[in-house]
Amino acid sequence: MLRAFASLFFYGRFFVPFSRIGLARRQRGWQAYPERLDGQTWLVTGASGGIGAAIARMAHARGARVLAAARSAEKLAELVRAAGGGDRMLPMRVDFSSIADTRRFVAELAGRGERIDVLVNNVGLLLDRFQLTAEGFETSFGTNLLSHFVLGEGLREENLYAEGAVVINMSSGGMYGTPLRLAEMAARSAREYDGMAAYAMHKRAQVELTRAWNQRWQGQPRVYVMHPGWVDTAGVQTALPGFRAVLRRHLRTPEEGADTALWLGTTRPPLAPEGGIWLDRVLDPEHAFALTRKTAIDAAQLHGFLAAQARATGG
Ligand SMILES: NC(=O)c1ccc[n+]([C@@H]2O[C@H](COP(=O)([O-])OP(=O)(O)OC[C@H]3O[C@@H](n4cnc5c(N)ncnc54)[C@H](OP(=O)(O)O)[C@@H]3O)[C@@H](O)[C@H]2O)c1
Repeated sequence: MLRAFASLFFYGRFFVPFSRIGLARRQRGWQAYPERLDGQTWLVTGASGGIGAAIARMAHARGARVLAAARSAEKLAELVRAAGGGDRMLPMRVDFSSIADTRRFVAELAGRGERIDVLVNNVGLLLDRFQLTAEGFETSFGTNLLSHFVLGEGLREENLYAEGAVVINMSSGGMYGTPLRLAEMAARSAREYDGMAAYAMHKRAQVELTRAWNQRWQGQPRVYVMHPGWVDTAGVQTALPGFRAVLRRHLRTPEEGADTALWLGTTRPPLAPEGGIWLDRVLDPEHAFALTRKTAIDAAQLHGFLAAQARATGG
């Protein structure tokens, strides 16, 4: 009952900014910007569907070379076909729920001598039941957070970021509902697992990981965190069918959800000292409720936690 009230409050609080209504309001203030991306290489994770596919298509249409990473060979082949074939949309098969496969992918990129201008850490999912990967991680933790950490760090260790590169972490407005806590982040048993709480925690952690990387990397690359609003994708249809049924008319298209990633990757605005999270080309505060500021760990501690989790897989 309490949870139902909390959900109602949350959805009511964010209905306007996260729906197409908020997008329409903010679009009024948008300025044209140079959108050509010729000569750049964009690496997009979760690129075979939803928002990731939209980012891949939009970057490709503006002239970028796109490394489109996901699991499904068929969906990636369709992305390449829709882009007109050619050699600027490259399908890359990776399973980001596996840290070993994420490391293999980094090694593959290094072996090919890739130089990445924009990394979009987009892959993410919300599960309704507890699943462990072969490496012993809860699947959504591995996919939503630990693989992002391993990929982002791996590209830097291998010196694969181009000069002036940027990383864009795809969070979610769901993170506004939670402070950062380690307990929910990487559940070890079904008993302690709540898929929605875990997802929100991973998305809050991406905000803090962005801060940690900016503190450590000092702008090479520069790291942004954004969220796309509420977007009608296969992921939402599977994970939140009731939410989609009620709000369908107000959900954004994948292209609308992707816009801020394109804008960030193209305009690369200066980093704000206070942090923040981007939505519709505007830097919003990281907290909407006083409750979520009460956190037991900070960005550096989160970084240490993720590094230890990654080391536990042998890296
Ligand atoms: N949709 C929304 O309203 C919304 C709101 C807030 C935040 N977001 C965030 O935006 C991101 C994209 O969401 P979406 O709604 O577009 O998701 P989606 O429709 O479920 O698409 C997810 C993509 O990720 C790929 N993927 C899933 N698991 C993977 C894995 N283990 N390894 C490699 N690729 C994997 C899927 O393709 P394969 O099956 O081919 O691997 C697919 O291309 C997520 O991080 C999500 O949390 C979405």
